[in-house]
Amino acid sequence: MFSFKKNYNLFGKITLSIIKPDAVEKGYSISILSKIIDAGFHIIALKMMELSKKSAFIFYEEHKEKYFFDSLIEFMSSGPIISSILKKENAVKDFRILIGDTNPINAKKGTIRNLYATSLEKNAIHGSDSNKNAFKECQFFFPIEKFYYK
Ligand code: CMP
Repeated sequence: MFSFKKNYNLFGKITLSIIKPDAVEKGYSISILSKIIDAGFHIIALKMMELSKKSAFIFYEEHKEKYFFDSLIEFMSSGPIISSILKKENAVKDFRILIGDTNPINAKKGTIRNLYATSLEKNAIHGSDSNKNAFKECQFFFPIEKFYYK
C-alpha cells in the first residue's frame, strides 16, 4: 500500500493528476503532460487506464449527494484517462494554479483548463485539493509499496 509511513517524506510534495476522458479523446494528453513537466513537476508514476463505474463511484464518493454525480460517474468511466503522481515542492497548490478554475469559463488564460476544457464537467484535468487528499488519491490509483524517484 502507498502508506504515509513508507512515503512520509513525500507528504506535501505530491499531487494526483488525472487527464480526463474528454482531453484524452481529443488527443491533448501529450500537450498537457508537456505543460506539466515544463512547470517543474516530476512524474513519479503514470498510467493510462479506464475507470470502472464502481471505481469512479468510490473516487468521487464525497460528491454523491450532488446533482451532477451520476453524470460525473458516467463521464469519468466513458473512456481512457491518464492518472499520474506529480512531485514538486507545494505540488497541490502549484498544480491547482497550473490547471486553473474548475469551471473553464473562469480559468485564467494559459491554464490547462482554459486551453483544453470544454465545460464544467468536461474540464480536461483533475488535481487534488489538499495534501491529505493527495495522499489518499495517490494511494487509490497507485496502491504500491514505495515510489522511486530522484
Ligand atoms: P474535479 O474538481 O476534478 O472533481 C470533481 C468534478 O465534478 C469536477 O472536477 C467537475 O468535473 C465536476 N463538477 C464539479 N461541479 C460541477 C457542476 N456544478 N456540474 C457538473 N460537474 C461538476
